[in-house]
Amino acid sequence: MSIRLSTGEEIPIEMHKARMVQKIQLVPIDERLKAMEEAGYNTFLLKTKDIFLDMLTDSGVNAMSDNQYAGMMNVDDAYAGSMTFYEFAKAVEDVLGFKHVMNVHQGRAAEHLLAKVFAKPGGVVPTNYHFTTTKAHIELQGMQVKEIYYDDALKTESGNQFKGNMDPNKLKGVIEKYGIDNIAFVRMEATTNLIGGQPFSMANLKEIRRICTGNDLLLVLDGSLISENAYFIRQREEGYGDKTVAEIVKEMCSMADVYYMSGRKNTSVRGGCIATNDRRLFDLIQPWLPVYEGFSTYGGMSMREIGAMAVGMREMVDPNVAGCSVEQIRYFVNKLVKAGIPVVTPPGGLGCHLDAMKFLPKIPQSQYPAGALAAALYITSGIRSMERGTISMDRDKEGRDVFADVELTRLALPRRVYTVSHIDFAIDRIEWLHRHRELVKGLKFISEPPVLRFFFGKLEPLDGWGVSLKEAFKKEMGDA
Ligand code: F0G
Repeated sequence: MSIRLSTGEEIPIEMHKARMVQKIQLVPIDERLKAMEEAGYNTFLLKTKDIFLDMLTDSGVNAMSDNQYAGMMNVDDAYAGSMTFYEFAKAVEDVLGFKHVMNVHQGRAAEHLLAKVFAKPGGVVPTNYHFTTTKAHIELQGMQVKEIYYDDALKTESGNQFKGNMDPNKLKGVIEKYGIDNIAFVRMEATTNLIGGQPFSMANLKEIRRICTGNDLLLVLDGSLISENAYFIRQREEGYGDKTVAEIVKEMCSMADVYYMSGRKNTSVRGGCIATNDRRLFDLIQPWLPVYEGFSTYGGMSMREIGAMAVGMREMVDPNVAGCSVEQIRYFVNKLVKAGIPVVTPPGGLGCHLDAMKFLPKIPQSQYPAGALAAALYITSGIRSMERGTISMDRDKEGRDVFADVELTRLALPRRVYTVSHIDFAIDRIEWLHRHRELVKGLKFISEPPVLRFFFGKLEPLDGWGVSLKEAFKKEMGDA
């Protein structure tokens, strides 16, 4: 939650205390430059020994609660029929309202199974916005993703509280153009990760549900960040201020034919699940589970993680859990806005997103401004962020770059991990970099895998800008 100080300033306040900690270190800038060079200017390829604040992702790196650790210890290890799985299934029914559930090893495994089982080769999947792995799995099944957001969803600076909404008229247009026989399913992502963790409204979800029902289309809900979307609905949507996050999550789930999630985010474990109330749909998916994941009562996860996920599922609807990173992100974003730094607004879930095209306006998309900004930020601060722009898009069949709609450098906030002073440090270093942005130039690929190239691709800085940035920083700020 947030708390108002006597000065009037509002700050995010942690409703938990740290009882186990991990040491971190800020290595000198010469070492940081060397680490970045060895990583091919790709923050995925850094080692954590060289990282001060790891804001690459909020996935699989949240702090678990004491009760989750207890849940990990008290498990029933069995290949088949484990009672821990049934405790998890009960948590899913209580929290999400689904009677049938299966675990998968992580969110993209759910995407793989759903794309495979519901595939309509040559067809399309309309979505409010794609995620990288979702798109890859849909395309691997010979289908295309159709992004059908409202026009202002891609405006990075905006007052629209629900940039994650799907445009119902555009959905109707897609249905008319492709025909229901060529639509595998309609996918709503709560919240839209790649455009800045932006939520959709309940009213919008209801409208999309109506269209799906009217056209006999499946509605699939990606609930990887569902508790934050629900938290935003409670804060921002008329008529929901008096509802609990738990009630809103349940209402959202009641609209979906099929639900899936990466458990690595809201439930703070390493796993995922697919859930539904439709036994027929469940029976279409389940036979494939042992082929790719594992038997139905573990689905590729360890029993320990399933035990922790059962607890995390119940905890994620506690407003102090659902809102812990949201409130930190709001603080982070509002301070950057005040300092004149181009950042995605309104503040969303999962992280703070810098608009790299505005931050580094001289770097064209063909030279990957968001990747350059992530690399520059690491060199000057030891903070690891993630490129969410053109590097995160694979090339088209002709080998041309596909320019991303937005070039974002994402500073994710893992839940219950970092403090306000960490955020203040990040703000200070981002401001420093903004004042010296002329020193940062573009990047060029030197090695590039054919799929999801952002994971393993290596790049080099044009004109060797890494060295001049380091020298300028060192002159003013020393080694730190
Ligand atoms: N859906 C959404 C909305 C996600 O944000 C992610 C992962 C996935 C699906 C895939 O889940 O990683 O468990 O296989 N997002 C991570 C991120 C990777 O860093 O934003 P996964």
